[in-house]
Amino acid sequence: MTSPGDREAWKRAAAEEAVKLVEPGMAVGLGHGSTARYALLRIAELLRSGKLREVVGVPCSTQVEREARELGIPLTTLEENPILDLTIDGADEVDPELNLIKGGGGALLREKVVAQASRREVIVVDEGKLSPALGTRCPVPVEVLPFGWRTHLPFLEGLGAEVTLRRGADGAPVRTDGGNFILDCAFGPIRDPQSLARELDARAGILGHGLFLGLATHLYVGTPHGVSYHRCIDEGQIFEA
Ligand code: A5P
Repeated sequence: MTSPGDREAWKRAAAEEAVKLVEPGMAVGLGHGSTARYALLRIAELLRSGKLREVVGVPCSTQVEREARELGIPLTTLEENPILDLTIDGADEVDPELNLIKGGGGALLREKVVAQASRREVIVVDEGKLSPALGTRCPVPVEVLPFGWRTHLPFLEGLGAEVTLRRGADGAPVRTDGGNFILDCAFGPIRDPQSLARELDARAGILGHGLFLGLATHLYVGTPHGVSYHRCIDEGQIFEA
C-alpha cells in the first residue's frame, strides 16, 4: 500500500530531476503547489552551494514569491523578462497527451500566464496524477470576477458541470491573488477539452480556467520505480516579439 511518505518521495524525485534542466543564467518560472515546492527548495540549495549561478525566478503566486524570497532565490518579473527559459510547475491531472488540469492550489491564472511565456513548461507530478481523460480525477477550477459570479452557474451547468464555489476554512469564498473567486466545476471525464476550453475562454467574467491544453512540453512523473520522463510538443512555440 502507498503511504503519504512514499508519495512525497516520488514528488520530490520528479521535481529534483526537472531541476537538472535549469542552467546558469536562466530566467525560470517558479510553480505553485507542494510538488513544485520541492523544485524551489532544490534550486535554492544549488544557488546556495554555488553549483548554480545567476538564475532569476518569476513566482506563480504571492505565496511562492514569499517562499522564494525567504530561500534567497533572486526574483524578476515578466515585465523585465517577458520570455522565460523554462517553468517548473505541478498539475492536478495529466492526460496521455500531456494536457493538464491545474489550479487545485488556486494559482491557475498566473500559472497560465507564466506557462504561456515559457519556452519550456516542465510539469512535475507523482503517478497518482495520471489520468486517461481530463476531469476523471478532479474538477476544473474556473476563475471568475466576483461581479456577477452567480450568472456563470447556469452557464457552467449547461456545459455539464456540477459547480461549487471554493470556500476557505472560515466559510468565506477563497480569493485568488487577483482578488477573484474560483468555481470548481466537476465535469467527469471530458470528451472534448478543446471545445470546452473555447466555451470558457469566450465568456465575459470568466478570467481563466484550469485546462492547460498544449502547454506542457516536458513531464516528470515520480513512481515507485523511479522518475519517468515524457516530452511533448516542440519547443519555441511561444510568440516572440
Ligand atoms: C496550483 O494552482 C496548482 O495548479 C498546482 O500546480 C497543482 O494543484 C498541483 O499541486 P500539488 O503539487 O500540491 O499536488
